[in-house]
Amino acid sequence: MRPKDRGGGMSLRLRLAFEDGTEREIAGLPWQTVFQAAQAHGIELATDCREGACATCKARCIEGDYDVGDASPEALTAEEEAEGFVLTCQMLPLGDCALCFPYPFSLTGGAVSTQAVLTAVERVAEDTVRFDLAPDREIPFLPGQYAQIGVPGAGAERAFSFSRRDRAEFHARLLPDGLMSGYLAARAKPGDRLDLSGPYGGFFLREPVRPVLMVAGGTGLAPMLAMLEALEGRQPAVLLYGAASARRLFALDRLADSGARVRVAVEEPGGNPSFHTGFVTDLIDRPGSDIDAYVCGPPAMIDAARARLRAAGLAEERIHCERFLPS
Ligand SMILES: Cc1cc2nc3c(=O)[nH]c(=O)nc-3n(C[C@H](O)[C@H](O)[C@H](O)COP(=O)(O)OP(=O)(O)OC[C@H]3O[C@@H](n4cnc5c(N)ncnc54)[C@H](O)[C@@H]3O)c2cc1C
Ligand code: FES
Repeated sequence: MRPKDRGGGMSLRLRLAFEDGTEREIAGLPWQTVFQAAQAHGIELATDCREGACATCKARCIEGDYDVGDASPEALTAEEEAEGFVLTCQMLPLGDCALCFPYPFSLTGGAVSTQAVLTAVERVAEDTVRFDLAPDREIPFLPGQYAQIGVPGAGAERAFSFSRRDRAEFHARLLPDGLMSGYLAARAKPGDRLDLSGPYGGFFLREPVRPVLMVAGGTGLAPMLAMLEALEGRQPAVLLYGAASARRLFALDRLADSGARVRVAVEEPGGNPSFHTGFVTDLIDRPGSDIDAYVCGPPAMIDAARARLRAAGLAEERIHCERFLPS
């Protein structure tokens, strides 16, 4: 809904419900986004870009009128918008509203900003580098969440997902002409100091009360590695992992030891005959409706996976996605 009369200085009631059952009722002002209103009450909602581009702040509005604000169609698809999903860094309530957040209240404590020493950097596939950081201050993250890492000398930062449950290991895809990619491929050496902040994001392993399906494209595998470690075999897990070619696959040894049933898809024919030739989303076959699904990778893959899971009868609340958008 587009803004009409925004009601002068009248305050609005916002009911915020978190995944763990915690509820908060706060007052908002007509010109404040939900994120700004919550922040004014000491509640630091999950955000990253704060420009409607990254989808980190996504929540669902279940009651009330609002203006969706300036949301990029990649971060909030038309289908999601029709279902009441919103980007809380953009959403302007037009009256009293109720929102549900896909993470527990404990995540609203805010991010830690620190520096870290690069302790290892290693090429693990044709276009993928693994690197380890030793932060000066501990960042208490949940498996699946991500950090913002400064590119040394560039005055820019990039988002990378933790790929271990308990330490700052990351996997980065090397992109042509990419700022961080150029640093990691050519200049990075142990001992370098980098800025680091986090944790960010609402993509993390939920309490494992039902079987888990993970769908990863490219370095979208990184948060799945952390989540599989944390799962510790407490629920049956199936991991579907796709890459453009066999030369771009990484961490297959870790996957073999993860306890998950792993199926691999590569788009380029050839390589291991046990790999499916085609898209990773081709492997989503009758997933069942009593599972939790985690999907991470390029936006087009996420949209295809989400559509297949929804068509198979899986509720939106059971599908957790992280889009690897340019950051
Ligand atoms: C929440 C989140 C978590 C992420 N976690 C990871 C991770 O664990 N590992 C990982 O490899 N990436 C991850 N990404 C993506 C990563 O942050 C970006 O790809 C990053 O910007 C690349 O940095 P760069 O400096 O090398 O490239 P840039 O200098 O940002 O870009 C170089 C060129 O590549 C294009 N580009 C940038 N990013 C992408 C992309 N993702 N896909 C296609 N083209 C792109 C740009 O448009 C530009 O043309 C994550 C993104 C988000 C939003
Ligand atoms: S924080 Fe809202 S879209 Fe990025």
